[in-house]
Amino acid sequence: MILSSMVNLHVDLAALEHNYRQLRLLCEPPVKMLAVVKADAYGHGLLPVARTLARGGVDYLGVGSLEEGLALRQAGLTLPILLLLGIVPREAERAVAADLEVVLFRRDVAQALAAAARSQAKPAKAHLKVDTGMGRLGLLSGEVPEFLAGLREYRQLEVLGLISHLAVADEEDKAYTLKQLQEFTGLLAAVRGQGWALPLSHLSNSAALWELKEAHLDLVRPGLMLYGSPPSPRRPPPLTLKPVMTLATEVLQVKRLPPGSSISYGCTYTTRDWCDLAVLPVGYCNGYSRLLSNRGAALIRGRRAPIRGRVCMNLTMVEVTGIPGVKPGDRVTLLGQDQNERISAEELAAWADTISYEVYCLLGAANLRRYQGARDGEKTG
Ligand SMILES: Cc1ncc(COP(=O)(O)O)c(C=O)c1O
Repeated sequence: MILSSMVNLHVDLAALEHNYRQLRLLCEPPVKMLAVVKADAYGHGLLPVARTLARGGVDYLGVGSLEEGLALRQAGLTLPILLLLGIVPREAERAVAADLEVVLFRRDVAQALAAAARSQAKPAKAHLKVDTGMGRLGLLSGEVPEFLAGLREYRQLEVLGLISHLAVADEEDKAYTLKQLQEFTGLLAAVRGQGWALPLSHLSNSAALWELKEAHLDLVRPGLMLYGSPPSPRRPPPLTLKPVMTLATEVLQVKRLPPGSSISYGCTYTTRDWCDLAVLPVGYCNGYSRLLSNRGAALIRGRRAPIRGRVCMNLTMVEVTGIPGVKPGDRVTLLGQDQNERISAEELAAWADTISYEVYCLLGAANLRRYQGARDGEKTG
């Protein structure tokens, strides 16, 4: 992909490290922390993010694919790495060879892992996934004892723990989350009673790390809060989280339109008065959603400039009437702070009817990333 140098995504690794240290204060040793760096570290760049957190002392990394795990190993990271989506049987040899731990919920995968471990004369490590109410990956609790019993023949396959995922931990009402936790801990006690040690069992995401200490168990798995966003935008956590990602562009053209002029495809906005318009070289090909049409805003000279008309593939128009002196080349902040104004990922997400997770993933995937705050000269990734 060829990316435009007129649209720059900045990733502040010092802010990431700050957030990591804040999250560490929320859980007490011996609880371990797995940093979720799947999906290219939520769009922030897998390698720079993983290196920063590894240097900070994180215990584990969680990735979304075998390829992400292998990339971390090739970059020299030696931390335990968990493949959060598991693998398919054809990936077992490579996962074992690279010492990647696997989320497990399929018998054919268990068989493939055991075979790979035998042929490579080293253990394969798995975390057994239990669906306690997320309705996504995993065995139902009632299926776990029989599945585990079937693993006894695979001596080379070490089951390190049970893993589950919470569906609504970000909500204030914790009834459903506590039901999930109760089911998980009940199952854990039962299978431990059958002789499985399962020393590394876990189900806490950012929200549970923040608000549900009893769910921390052996390890917590934050993602979103590491990147500086609260799990629940309406209830910010009592921490100073710093935004890690910012997105900036520059004014490409400034023009003055007379009253009654239409702006952009579909003529969905018509000026009532004289309108000073700035044309920006950013659009939905940059992950800047078309749903921001006539809803979002950008920051220019510390002021909010509302989006007028539809966001196009490569261009977006904002009104700068009343903002003195705007000219081509002026810096435009699409996500981040300019003087006293700030557009957060949560605000951008609300305008586009989505969540900050998606904003980060889309912007991160589609723009040139520049790094600041790196400790050892690492610049891009
Ligand atoms: C299995 C699993 N654990 C942990 C997380 C981290 O969640 P959050 O980003 O809300 O902290 C995710 C993210 O979606 C996940 O899929």
